[in-house]
Amino acid sequence: MKPENLRTKIFLDSGDPAETKETMAFLGFLDGQTTNPSLIAKNPETAGKKFTREELLGFYRGVVEEVSRVIPEGSVSIEVYADKHTSAEEMLRQGREMFAWIPNAHIKYPTTREGLKAAQQSVKEGMRVNMTLVFSQQQAAAVYAATRGAKRGNVFLSPFIGRLDDRGENGMDLIENILKMYQKGDGHVEVLTASVRNLHHLLAAVQLGSDILTSPLKVLREWAQAGLPAREDFYKPEALTPILYEELNLEQDWTAFDISHELTDVGVERFSADWNALLS
Ligand code: E4P
Repeated sequence: MKPENLRTKIFLDSGDPAETKETMAFLGFLDGQTTNPSLIAKNPETAGKKFTREELLGFYRGVVEEVSRVIPEGSVSIEVYADKHTSAEEMLRQGREMFAWIPNAHIKYPTTREGLKAAQQSVKEGMRVNMTLVFSQQQAAAVYAATRGAKRGNVFLSPFIGRLDDRGENGMDLIENILKMYQKGDGHVEVLTASVRNLHHLLAAVQLGSDILTSPLKVLREWAQAGLPAREDFYKPEALTPILYEELNLEQDWTAFDISHELTDVGVERFSADWNALLS
């Protein structure tokens, strides 16, 4: 059962409903699940197979429908296909379609110019969104500004801490900085710590007060085996370069922020390549 003192919502990061069931069995609860094209490509049922575009979309739909049946009260994030040429209109078209797949969907758009335009229109239409591939405080400010007016619960922001750690920057600093910046706002965006690689990440996200975190099954299992602790007082990754806080004005238009980030471009490239590799 979920510890009473735990305010962070716990999501599973997986494209496999078997893992949803397994997690429910050992953890006893799950507040949601995140998927992405690379996680769908890792689903054991795709191994050695090739699909037409329609078949692959149908497979993705089947996965999230099954997840949604296991955790009907939770949120299930579904990611649109986007490469560097995909327009906002095309992302929005996919987003609208995917949002109708299940009653508890959040649609993931990349935090790029086109992705932000799609998100802005989506929230106006009452859709729930999860802005992904976030690597900077400026991107977080742009998401806040682009989705202003949305109801709390309808907008998630996913900073990828593991991928920042991979290149020597302390990803957890970004979570801390965004939470601090959002304290000055109206609270309509929830911070979802993503790209969690180990139990230290999970516990530090809880300790910092991240609204949500998404974690691979392996780390959730370690957490359960440790008795579901909710503190990490000693997370000081000395080898990683700190990410400094920036003073930003959330009241500006989203286009005023510098949303470019090399890791976002690499991430879009990798997600689209993993998806395209499944196509015949
Ligand atoms: C979840 O929403 C993210 O897509 C996921 O956590 C990314 O994790 P990775 O950096 O390990 O691929």
